[in-house]
Amino acid sequence: MLTTKNCAILSYITSGMTKQAQLDALQKEMEEAAILPLASVANLVFGEGNPDAEVLFIGEAPGFHEDTQRRPFVGLAGKLLDKLLAEISWPRESVYITNIVKRRPPENRDPLPKEIEAYAPYLKRQIEILQPKIIATLGRFSMNYFLPDAKISRDRGRLFKVNSHFMYPLYHPAAALRSTTTLEELRKDFHRLPQALERAKNSGAIKEPPPIEQKQKENQNKQTSLF
Ligand code: URA
Repeated sequence: MLTTKNCAILSYITSGMTKQAQLDALQKEMEEAAILPLASVANLVFGEGNPDAEVLFIGEAPGFHEDTQRRPFVGLAGKLLDKLLAEISWPRESVYITNIVKRRPPENRDPLPKEIEAYAPYLKRQIEILQPKIIATLGRFSMNYFLPDAKISRDRGRLFKVNSHFMYPLYHPAAALRSTTTLEELRKDFHRLPQALERAKNSGAIKEPPPIEQKQKENQNKQTSLF
């Protein structure tokens, strides 16, 4: 059971470890947590990539190929993700890729709220270890975890600040495989990702105020859209 006290003890123990060693320890802990939903029916797909990545991609949950290979985004949607990364000259190995729910739901159904809730504390710790400059969410489930009021058709390709994290919602590549319009929108947003990253890194230098409607939203939800 992850209590605040346990988390404080864990962060003390892991504070002298490299990021990779901390990730390995977290993965081991998840593998041993038999009470996690889906633990008895699917493999753990923890995530992979550069522990020092500036960009963290977060999808929904593994599918068949991801479950089999224990790696995120290695099926058709993953091939599209790789292609989009190549188009902006970002090698897959330079970023970090994971999912909000780290086991495959049966028949690839949508993750359930209780599954997202159970896996969320581990995602939170993974983010604390990685300390990315920007988090690009893939699809509405991971987007709505950080931005509960966001709508993917309206808010994709916009930069938000949630607590200390910069978020950049993107369509899920699987959705782009089903619609050429979605693919073009995902591609357009993807091509603006390097610019969004620079903006997140230089956030102190942003001159223009957020649009009015986002300011209102910021007051309501403590979310800031920066473009
Ligand atoms: N879809 C996801 O959301 N994640 C994966 O890892 C693969 C497909």
